[in-house]
Amino acid sequence: MRALTGIKPTAQPHLGNLVGAIGPGISLSREHDCIYFIADYHALTTLHDRAAMRTYVYEGAATWLALGLDPQRSVLFQQSDAPEVTELSWLLSCICGLGLLDRGHAVKAARDGGHDINAGVFNYPVLMAADILAYDTNVVPVGQDQKQHVEMTRDMAVAFNHRFGEVLVVPEVLLQKEGAVVSGLDGRKMSKSYNNTVPLFATSKQLRKLIMSITTDSRGMEEPKDPETCNIFAIFRLFASEAEQADLAARYRAGGLGYGHAKQELFEVLDRRFAEPREHFAEWMANPARLDAVLADGAERARVISRATLERAREAVGFQRVQRRRETVP
Ligand code: ADP
Ligand code: TRP
Repeated sequence: MRALTGIKPTAQPHLGNLVGAIGPGISLSREHDCIYFIADYHALTTLHDRAAMRTYVYEGAATWLALGLDPQRSVLFQQSDAPEVTELSWLLSCICGLGLLDRGHAVKAARDGGHDINAGVFNYPVLMAADILAYDTNVVPVGQDQKQHVEMTRDMAVAFNHRFGEVLVVPEVLLQKEGAVVSGLDGRKMSKSYNNTVPLFATSKQLRKLIMSITTDSRGMEEPKDPETCNIFAIFRLFASEAEQADLAARYRAGGLGYGHAKQELFEVLDRRFAEPREHFAEWMANPARLDAVLADGAERARVISRATLERAREAVGFQRVQRRRETVP
């Protein structure tokens, strides 16, 4: 079984990315064939800043490695280093109806907000389908917000196979039971686009400041509180042990626990959880040549698969291989 997922380099990865995609991705990598990439082509739909792009690509790669991905066992690469996906994306565009893309949530949100979008945003799901299909992927670990894209990918794969034969593997989405949507500092979905994230490798000082800024209701210190509706507890439960969760939940309900105390406990849990990865992250970031070596090796291994898939797809739609043309020259 092969798992694949991508993360856009549009800022430093955050707790939501970890819980929805990176964590499950790393767990899968212990037993399965895994391919993970930094989705720079996708980031380019919104990020038009050369220096920032470069920094975020390195941060994305260093994140997976700092959290324990073994680059020998799994493939970690930068999306644009395997340009076959852009060609596959073209083949898929020619079987993908406009109606499907029109229902894409990014397009709908832009339209509802009255924003202009570029063609890259409109075609985003086709490129994402090409990513998934180019590598014969079986499962795609992602957060809830990406479920629709994986469903669109399945539709495109089925349509392509229907027309041209069994060429593409139809993938399944893998969602987390808890944490498919991690809430951000303001209670909305945590997202780089909302500026409400907790970056994974914030320093202790930055982390404390962010945690202290989580919005809560105005219940006073003595009043009993409901952990189920509290933004602090929503994050706490994803990182604390069962015993810590039960203990904090009981104190919420009993009254006498202020939100400031709950924030302090959340801070401690996160600070402890990320102490070690933070150091590994800093080591990787201090050594871009090592990151380049990992990414170059990953790209080579990824391309062995994407080239083979593309070859099948080209053949299926009736394109000739250049090699074959030469052979027929008398
Ligand atoms: P962002 O929304 O912050 O730009 P990405 O779009 O790069 O993040 O998402 C990368 C991965 O992380 C995707 O699989 C996405 O579903 C997941 N993800 C992002 N935000 C969250 C969240 N708040 N909760 C759970 N998963 C998330
Ligand atoms: N669209 C995904 C996101 O915004 C990133 C992504 C690009 C991706 N290609 C992918 C995720 C392929 C899974 C599989 O989060």
